[in-house]
Amino acid sequence: MAKLQFAAVIAVCMALAACGSKPEGTAGASAAGGKILTKADLPPPYNEADIANGQTIFIKCRNCHSVVPSEGNKTGPNLHGVFDRHPATQANFKYSKALQGDKDEKWTGAELDKWLAKPKDYMPGTKMFFNGLDDANDRRDVIAYLMIASENADAAKTAATQQ
Ligand code: HEC
Repeated sequence: MAKLQFAAVIAVCMALAACGSKPEGTAGASAAGGKILTKADLPPPYNEADIANGQTIFIKCRNCHSVVPSEGNKTGPNLHGVFDRHPATQANFKYSKALQGDKDEKWTGAELDKWLAKPKDYMPGTKMFFNGLDDANDRRDVIAYLMIASENADAAKTAATQQ
């Protein structure tokens, strides 16, 4: 297992060709310091999420967001490595002034939960035109899915089949 995770991390690094260029808290790093690649790596309550449901919910997000670095930005910014990243800092994306004003924050599960409940209330003036997810379980599930997918899209697909 450790070997497998290591191989996956190398693959991600090669894909980014920028391994080690992020000194502060590598996005999505688990408590043990490894990359999040399975549900068991997630912090609570996300380790109890329904990843398959999260994958289904993420279809809504997919209209506007990719998690694959090579796919770049769509209507919304690319979400690869979004956790632990400051808001509005994805390269080559024209963010709203509102989100740009929030750069002191960092995207965590808890912040994303508030954002996804109602983007317009969390950040008046945002240009993420998405009504929000009313169901707290749906938010937990999609955030858990994204915690894995934002590191490794293939690992997220696998996690969704391992309920
Ligand atoms: C209709 C298109 C659209 C949909 C659907 C959408 N988003 Fe977004 N999203 C955006 C746009 C546009 C922004 C940039 C907002 C701004 O600049 O104010 C954004 C920003 C974000 C950010 C902040 C990224 C950063 O770099 O700071 C996150 C996280 C995010 N969206 C997650 C999601 C998730 C998860 C879903 C699905 C539940 C979703 N979005 C659905 C368009 C969308």
